[in-house]
Amino acid sequence: RSADYQTGSVSWSSPLRVAVTDDLRGVVTTFALDLKTAVGWDVAFVEAGTGGDLEIALDPALGPEEYRVVVDDVTVVTAGSPAGASYALTVLRQLGAVELWSPTRSTLERCEIARVVIDDGPVFPWRGVHLDVARHFFDVASVCRLIDLLAAHRLNTLHLHLNDDQGWRVEIPGWPRLTDVGAWRRSSPVGHEDAAMDDNTPHGGYFTADDLVHLREHAARRFVRIVPEIDLPGHAQAVIAAYPELGNVDEPLEVWTRWGISEHVLNVGAEALAFAEEVVRYVAGLFPESPVHIGGDECPTSEWERSPLAEHVMVEQGFGDARQLQRLFTHRLSAALRDEGHEVVAWDEVLDARVDPGTVICAWRSSSKGVEAARRGLDVVMAPMQFLYFDWLNSVEPGEPTAQAPVPYATTWQKVYGFSVVPPGLESELHHHVRGAQAQLWTEYISTRDHLDYMAFPRVTVFSEVVWGTPTTLEDVRPRLEVQLDRLAIMGVRFRTLDPEA
Ligand code: ACM
Repeated sequence: RSADYQTGSVSWSSPLRVAVTDDLRGVVTTFALDLKTAVGWDVAFVEAGTGGDLEIALDPALGPEEYRVVVDDVTVVTAGSPAGASYALTVLRQLGAVELWSPTRSTLERCEIARVVIDDGPVFPWRGVHLDVARHFFDVASVCRLIDLLAAHRLNTLHLHLNDDQGWRVEIPGWPRLTDVGAWRRSSPVGHEDAAMDDNTPHGGYFTADDLVHLREHAARRFVRIVPEIDLPGHAQAVIAAYPELGNVDEPLEVWTRWGISEHVLNVGAEALAFAEEVVRYVAGLFPESPVHIGGDECPTSEWERSPLAEHVMVEQGFGDARQLQRLFTHRLSAALRDEGHEVVAWDEVLDARVDPGTVICAWRSSSKGVEAARRGLDVVMAPMQFLYFDWLNSVEPGEPTAQAPVPYATTWQKVYGFSVVPPGLESELHHHVRGAQAQLWTEYISTRDHLDYMAFPRVTVFSEVVWGTPTTLEDVRPRLEVQLDRLAIMGVRFRTLDPEA
């Protein structure tokens, strides 16, 4: 928020002498491991007031994610929480040499850090990236690496989309076919879905509970919270391929091999509702501190409209419209999660029916869905596809790899930088409902780590400033962005290079 540069710099070298209080020892340990990995430096713990390089302590007067850095002969970091301290250490690494970001041992004898006083903190508490591991599976190592990259941008939320028509990605006790059958598909589209070509190559994979706990713990060390999503009752073809009795049709289904929205949804019987609750409770249990996302987007009602069971339930419930059936799931899952102390998050389609109070809405169809949610008294995470779907083209230039939306739709980093987290038209007294925003990485057209990098960066980089709440102008951010891309390059990130300045 403010950076006041003084003249001169201080010089750091190994061993870096750090004084830290017990409550921040974990943060400094992570920092020390990073330094060791990057440049082989050691951190020596010393007593405060004995002339070390760095002293770091909590200051309860600061807000939860706020921090202050005073670079001086003894650099002093104070923070409102361990997360704030971690952001301060990230900034100190940024003020130092680019080698401090190397993932393999670089040589660095010493580095100069400009004397500066920084007071900073985020405007928005929900600063996220979403990753779809259902359309293409990304393994534990790839997700850990993405978490590290989010942390390097002081983003604090990773929303993991764990199931879809094309794959189920988490092992569930008592439901072995979800992963034996539902985690594998026979074929995937080649090129754009509209080309209707198949690769006839199996794809799949899934996380065990241990994998998810590992991800959670890795993320926690970097102050990133994982928000798991189980998306039901739509996007359920992989579930129904595994357990046909949870669906609406007699014919056998396979895990879907096309992109798009499958018509095959869970049926509205007692068994399917109980299944959804059991699965969501189980996954939520692996993330005890997290909000849990219950999906709820794009649920076609065509099968319900033809189903005698659904008709019976509609009469029983007094529903006049099959759309209302989705609320049976939303309400049941919300109640189960609240019962376990979780906040509930859902895509904005749930606004089409009555919504349980306290539900956090992910506004994806447009920013106006965020306005609608806030006016209905609900908190909202902004994720509008027009700005924050990073599976869309990076530019309209020829040569961009196949992406979800064709030309003329493109989301340049410049467009992302112009995104307003607070949706236009929202009354100022409702701004407090805006928790923040997240960038979406849907993976129909992203099947490798390199391609994920290309779609994520530099858009995630500029997004991180937007959602921190401190964007400036395109002219001002560009040199800052170029320096950050140097860091990403040393980290091995295969970002999309910037076009020359117009
Ligand atoms: C979505 O893009 N279906 C949330």
